[in-house]
Amino acid sequence: MRESNQIVKEVLNELSLRAEEGITTLELNRLAEKKIRKQGATPAFLGYRDYPFTICASINEEVVHGFPSKRRLQDGDIISIDVGVCFQGYYGDAAVTVPVGEVSEQALRLIAVTRESLDLAIEKVQVGNRIFDISAVIQDRVESEGFSVVRDFVGHGIGQKLHEEPQIPNFRMDEGSSQIKIKPGMVIAIEPMVNIGSYEVDTLPDGWTVVTRDRSLSAHFEHTVAATANGPMVLSA
Ligand code: MF3
Ligand code: CO
Repeated sequence: MRESNQIVKEVLNELSLRAEEGITTLELNRLAEKKIRKQGATPAFLGYRDYPFTICASINEEVVHGFPSKRRLQDGDIISIDVGVCFQGYYGDAAVTVPVGEVSEQALRLIAVTRESLDLAIEKVQVGNRIFDISAVIQDRVESEGFSVVRDFVGHGIGQKLHEEPQIPNFRMDEGSSQIKIKPGMVIAIEPMVNIGSYEVDTLPDGWTVVTRDRSLSAHFEHTVAATANGPMVLSA
């Protein structure tokens, strides 16, 4: 899984550098697919529940699952890029949000806080902790900054499938997976989705693109993390 996630990391690094004013998200998608296949891996999202692209490219008020398109990135945009691959039967999954050119102070703060909430969550991937501990630290960090955590989409276990048990919510939940204990060898994808405004989201008529209902900006970061007796191991770092 380290190898799968290192391919994801390399693709994300390249796309982050290329995400400049004037490039289309379809061009980013093409670069990603080429790089993934060159390493002998396959794009994990392409064909997953009929998702039609290699990457998700979600701009500004788009939260996740944005379709790559002929839209050119503009100065002041923020773009979330999500990449998943399968290599020798094992999956890797990670995402980053990057600014294009010069963006607002508020956009930069949104990106920083979302990133920090993921870092704090990773520290909670300790044997004996519960999924609840991960969810709580993300929610607290985000809400203390006045932002909100998306409820309708969550992180997930990952391994020989892209999505496995348990679900990893980014907010406190009483039911579901919250009381599951973290065990050595568990691998999870933690992926906070954070909005400047309300946490409510809608799906566009394309059936995939998730946007904030109030059209406020949204950021998304994701890492695949293994729990070990010696603490968290970030496979996609
Ligand atoms: N990182 C996202 C997830 O785990 C991306 C999935 S896109 C999809 O859900 F097309 F594969 F659904
Ligand atoms: Co994921």
